[in-house]
Amino acid sequence: MGNFDNLNSSIKIGPVELKNRYVVAPMNETFAGAVGEATAQYIAYFAARAKGGFGLITTGAIMGTKLASKYVWGRNPYLFSPLHIQGMSLFNETCHHFGAQTAAQMTIGFGRQGHSDDHHELTPAATGGLPYEVAVEKSCHPLVDDSFRRSEIAREFLVGQNTFEMSIDLIHSEQKEYARSIQLAGKAGFDAIDIHGPHGYLEHQFLSPLSNKRTDMYGGSWRNRKRFLLEVAEQTRYAAGNGIAVGCRISAEEHMEGGLTREEMIDVAQDMQAIGIDYISLSDGAGYPENGHLVPDPERWAHWPDAAADFKKALKIPVIMVGAHDPVLAESILAEGKADLIALGRQSFVDPELPNKVAAGNIKDIIICKRCNICLSRSLADCGGPRCPHNPILGREFEFPEYHMGPRRPNEPIMPRAVRGGMPSLQRPWWKSEVPYEEKNSIPFRGPGTR
Ligand SMILES: Cc1cc2nc3c(=O)[nH]c(=O)nc-3n(C[C@H](O)[C@H](O)[C@H](O)COP(=O)(O)O)c2cc1C
Repeated sequence: MGNFDNLNSSIKIGPVELKNRYVVAPMNETFAGAVGEATAQYIAYFAARAKGGFGLITTGAIMGTKLASKYVWGRNPYLFSPLHIQGMSLFNETCHHFGAQTAAQMTIGFGRQGHSDDHHELTPAATGGLPYEVAVEKSCHPLVDDSFRRSEIAREFLVGQNTFEMSIDLIHSEQKEYARSIQLAGKAGFDAIDIHGPHGYLEHQFLSPLSNKRTDMYGGSWRNRKRFLLEVAEQTRYAAGNGIAVGCRISAEEHMEGGLTREEMIDVAQDMQAIGIDYISLSDGAGYPENGHLVPDPERWAHWPDAAADFKKALKIPVIMVGAHDPVLAESILAEGKADLIALGRQSFVDPELPNKVAAGNIKDIIICKRCNICLSRSLADCGGPRCPHNPILGREFEFPEYHMGPRRPNEPIMPRAVRGGMPSLQRPWWKSEVPYEEKNSIPFRGPGTR
């Protein structure tokens, strides 16, 4: 039995103290309801992970604008209307009840990786025209699995929908709505906002020269391609107020010829730090067209600790890395200073109790994920949420009373953190500030080599 002092130690991300270094990685677990609401199963699923000892629970991508909600992948929760606060507030109270802090992974849109229910509609994107195409030979296991590839859903997944180029007016109105939604997330009781900028979604599409062919202020030069994400980060930071942590998830690199390099993504992370973002959470790869690094097998994951170390060396804010399923390996990554926090995706599906087992030094009881990717195939196919051959409870958590929070305890905080820490929803919205829009958003250029 090893020593897990690093994994079990507390850490602060911005104003939020976490009891340990374990994070539930953002995963669209497809348990939200038909109109994006937090269902009983959605809440109980996360309750099981909070009860299992995770310090921070990150939701899967939550659609932060009405337009974004029209182009989801399968089923995602929504948070762009006060009507969504009730369910998300219950989610937060439940996770807090079980001792975890919460982060809302808020997305401004999936861009060309979004899919409408009606596939004849258009999808919004950074660049007009051609849809993405998944190169099957580069994809991870479930996409090359014969039964999945033959299915209708696979055809929808392997080739994206046509897209249109967002006008500058549309970009700005989407950004405004997203910032308002960040304030709703604060009112719903989230401790942190996780800006969704990784693996080929809209923010990433703006960054990448492979997907951004615009010729206006949001395309072309590196400075212009960064503009969209940096604006979103600034607006989120402002809208969240000081009581809430704001992090950003990005890919460490694209792994495609002519695509984003690690050096460029470190530059983005440094810009985030300059804006006041509290942590960087790393994913990898260019997204669906290069699927192997989004949900990697051990071979495609092998370089991640060193990639995280490169980010960590360049930053002062904490770095979350994902995919170190084995706690002995995770502890050594922290001990060597390669990352600050360990996020677990599929591993948290199979063993929600992993952090408690690590805290008790009981690692022989941990069930390690076999990376069979049944969870992923089921989520992609949107057939009722993930299941796992090694965790019979996954998908049925709502049936178990131990994941219900019961009555309020006397010492339980009644007001959400954001409200206690300064009521961001009452702050002057940034778009009504005295500073003209263009000036407020003229982010100084800090491209590679200019520091
Ligand atoms: C079913 C499924 C859904 C996912 N959804 C998201 C998501 O909504 N947002 C995100 O940033 N990453 C998402 N991911 C990627 C995971 O957060 C994680 O980076 C990836 O699974 C690798 O970590 P792991 O080896 O611990 O699973 C998803 C992964 C899976 C398996």
